[in-house]
This record gives sequence, structure tokens and C-alpha cells, in this order.
Amino acid sequence: MFEGTGVDAQRARYERPELAWMFFRNFLRHPATVASIVPSSRFLTRCLADIARRDRPRTVVELGPGTGCTTRALLDILPREGRLLAIDVEEEFVVNLRNEPDERLLVQHGRADCLNEALLAHRLAHPDLIVSGIPFSTMPAQEGRRILQQVWTSLAPGGRFLAYQVRGHVARYAREWMGTPQVRMEVRNVPPMRIYCWRKPAGAA
Ligand SMILES: C[S@@+](CC[C@H](N)C(=O)[O-])C[C@H]1O[C@@H](n2cnc3c(N)ncnc32)[C@H](O)[C@@H]1O
Repeated sequence: MFEGTGVDAQRARYERPELAWMFFRNFLRHPATVASIVPSSRFLTRCLADIARRDRPRTVVELGPGTGCTTRALLDILPREGRLLAIDVEEEFVVNLRNEPDERLLVQHGRADCLNEALLAHRLAHPDLIVSGIPFSTMPAQEGRRILQQVWTSLAPGGRFLAYQVRGHVARYAREWMGTPQVRMEVRNVPPMRIYCWRKPAGAA
């Protein structure tokens, strides 16, 4: 589908060996935070983008962009006037993403529980899509719940929250506010990944 196109060339930039090495290096430094030895596969990033594009989102937040393969897939489905705020705790990932020449991309260094602050600082309206790859299974439960509460309150009514995870902690922590998610599996990834999907009711505050 993308063969020979500009999109393909851009995507190839996100699969460069030096980015894979940067990812692995950061995994060795902080295994519980980075949580995978390699970036997400093109199958997983395409799957996320395919779900996301159905809603034609304009304001997107990504928690845990890493070296940017998921970020690129999300930018590919954003309109020209769209905005994507990417928040990551690893400084090297943030510095790398800040070199990305795409005016729609805003990069914030920090933990995901600074989501509300980051939205304010970047003067962004309620996002209509939030995508998260941060590992809820390796962080304290309190932090996970704090993040999910901010995700749910900041999300626009009718908006979607997608979390790709190996384990089910995110669904347990989120149940209180978000209810039961739809779950899809993408096995063509190391490791195989579940994609949890919630939609905020259109009439919700
Ligand atoms: C599994 S990697 C996903 C990276 C990339 N999105 C991909 O799919 O290849 C998890 C990412 O979440 C970031 N991360 C982990 N905990 C975080 C937190 N509490 N706040 C912000 N970023 C976090 C890590 O630094 C890492 O970039």
C-alpha cells in the first residue's frame, strides 16, 4: 500500500537500525520503563492507525512515543491542521523526536501523569484520540490510575483511548471510569500485543 511513496520513505526513517539501537540501549538502562527490546512492528503501528483513522482525529495525544514509529503512523492519518502531543519520560527519545520536521508534532519531556499540565502548556483542546504504549504493568498502581483518570477526563466526548499492552493491568485500573474495553490482538509484534480500546460516550462531561 505504501510502496514507493513518500509515506513509505518517511516510515522507513523510523525503522532505521540506529533507532532500533537507541531503543535497545534505553531498554538496557530502564527495562521497566521502556518495556520492549525493539520498537513496535509495522503491523502493530498500522493496526493502531487503522483503528484511529476511523474517527478522523484532529487533536491526538501519544503517551510513550519512544523512537517514533507509532508517532509517524499517527501523523500519517492526521490532517494538515491537526496536532499530536507526544509525552515521553526518556530524554533521549524526546531529543530525537524534537528533531522531527513536522510542525504538527509537539514533544513534551515528562511522565504521563503530567498530561493535564502538558495539554494546558501547549494550549490544546480536549484530544479526540489518546494512544498509549506506556507499560501500566510495571508502574505503581496509583500512578497508573492517576494517568488513566487524566486520560478519561481530558478526552473529548466521543473520543477514543487506545492502549497497546502485553498485560491486562490497564483494563483493571481503567474499569472504574471507562468500563470494559474492546480487545484486539496483534501477534505480528515482539512481543505479541493486545490493543485495548475504549470510547468515551458522546454525552459525557
Ligand atoms: C513499549 S515502549 C513504546 C514505544 C513506541 N511507542 C513503540 O511502540 O515502539 C514504552 C514507551 O513509554 C515510555 N514511558 C514509560 N513509562 C512512561 C511514563 N510514566 N510516562 C511517559 N512515558 C513513559 C518509555 O520511555 C517508552 O518510550
